[in-house]
Amino acid sequence: MEDYEVLFSAYEAYKQRGKKLDMSRGKPSPKQLDTMERLLTAVTHSSECFTEKGTDCRNYGALDGINECKRLFGTMLGVDWNNVIVGGNSSLNFMYDTVARAMLHGVVDGCKPWSKYEQISFLCPVPGYDRHFAICEFFGINMINIPMDEHGPDMDMIEKLVAEDDTIKGIWCVPKYSNPGGVTYSDEVVRRFAKLKPKAKDFRVFWDNAYVLHDLTDKPDKLLEIFGEAEKYGNEDMFFEFASTSKITYPGSGVAAIASSAKNIARLMKELSVQTIGHDKLNQLRHSRIFKTYDDIVEQMKKHMEIIRPKFKAVYTVLEDELTGCGISWTIPNGGYFICVTMPDGTAKRTVELCKEAGLIITNAGATHPYGNNPRDNIIRLAPTFPEVGELEEAAKLFCICAKLAVIEKSIQ
Ligand SMILES: Cc1ncc(COP(=O)(O)O)c(C=O)c1O
Repeated sequence: MEDYEVLFSAYEAYKQRGKKLDMSRGKPSPKQLDTMERLLTAVTHSSECFTEKGTDCRNYGALDGINECKRLFGTMLGVDWNNVIVGGNSSLNFMYDTVARAMLHGVVDGCKPWSKYEQISFLCPVPGYDRHFAICEFFGINMINIPMDEHGPDMDMIEKLVAEDDTIKGIWCVPKYSNPGGVTYSDEVVRRFAKLKPKAKDFRVFWDNAYVLHDLTDKPDKLLEIFGEAEKYGNEDMFFEFASTSKITYPGSGVAAIASSAKNIARLMKELSVQTIGHDKLNQLRHSRIFKTYDDIVEQMKKHMEIIRPKFKAVYTVLEDELTGCGISWTIPNGGYFICVTMPDGTAKRTVELCKEAGLIITNAGATHPYGNNPRDNIIRLAPTFPEVGELEEAAKLFCICAKLAVIEKSIQ
């Protein structure tokens, strides 16, 4: 590693330039959005507003979504499309509502609402997605960190905790290309989830398959389908699976879905009917007109891959050049939206702070853990999809300088 003085003067030079850089946004770039131009004009005339069944998408109805779209999600997730509800524009909204309903009404007949317990807990594989943790925090649900490795969360710990404690009511999982670690759960991990034996009858797994098709290589990870496995153990009611087209078409203007057992879907339909008369079917119709077959979606995901793969590569090249041998490691995921950097303990926050002072915005160091608190202070999430390659290279170089400065500062403390 270079001397502190050399690094510090390079850092000061960046600071003087006063340029604003941002590697915090896990969202598609305008170029990615442009690949979906045809979605904007997929339905342009009243005569085109009818589903294959003849439902008029301009009117109320089809609470569970239009069949065309249900089938699409069924194929995407590898589940029975009859057990899919297609909803509004956000899977996170579905997750929030699912927790909210469980708090108010419970998830199983005969079990009291979660809010009637003095304290309930969720297991939170870390590093994880801050918005999952925010939902728990909002509802006052205690969160327990579960370490992750390259196969998924620590299943020994999960099995033990859920078997012993019936106030543990849920777990957040991003089983494919996890945010931010990029981990796809191994077949063994999925099987162990499928046969979990929780003490609480109303324990639920929130299987957030947000990156199900979001590959970055021609040899993508394969995730074992959870419901097929869970059915072998009569455990299918334990799972709620979520997905959306946010990073396939337009984030915030896509379509979201929830899949579960037939029993859970029937219950959900009753509950949903109180919340809404139906979701935006015109948007569902637009999506199903664009994606007539599964291959059409695969084609679209290839376009995304072509655009974002060089961006990930640009960041890897800088990290390799600048950080090799510095005790810092990073993920090279086969898909998803993030690179996850592991720093020496106690240096992540300082790195992010140094970046910020020099004009580079990076996601807060604690955001990958419940309560914004990573006890080891060692994980940083980089989001390379939004900026263009030139900006990314600059941002990555500045990031490396800051990371090395933080490591040196720590070593002389
Ligand atoms: C793991 C995960 N789940 C859910 C979402 C949000 O999904 P949606 O746009 O469908 O609400 C994101 C967005 O970054 C995510 O990373």
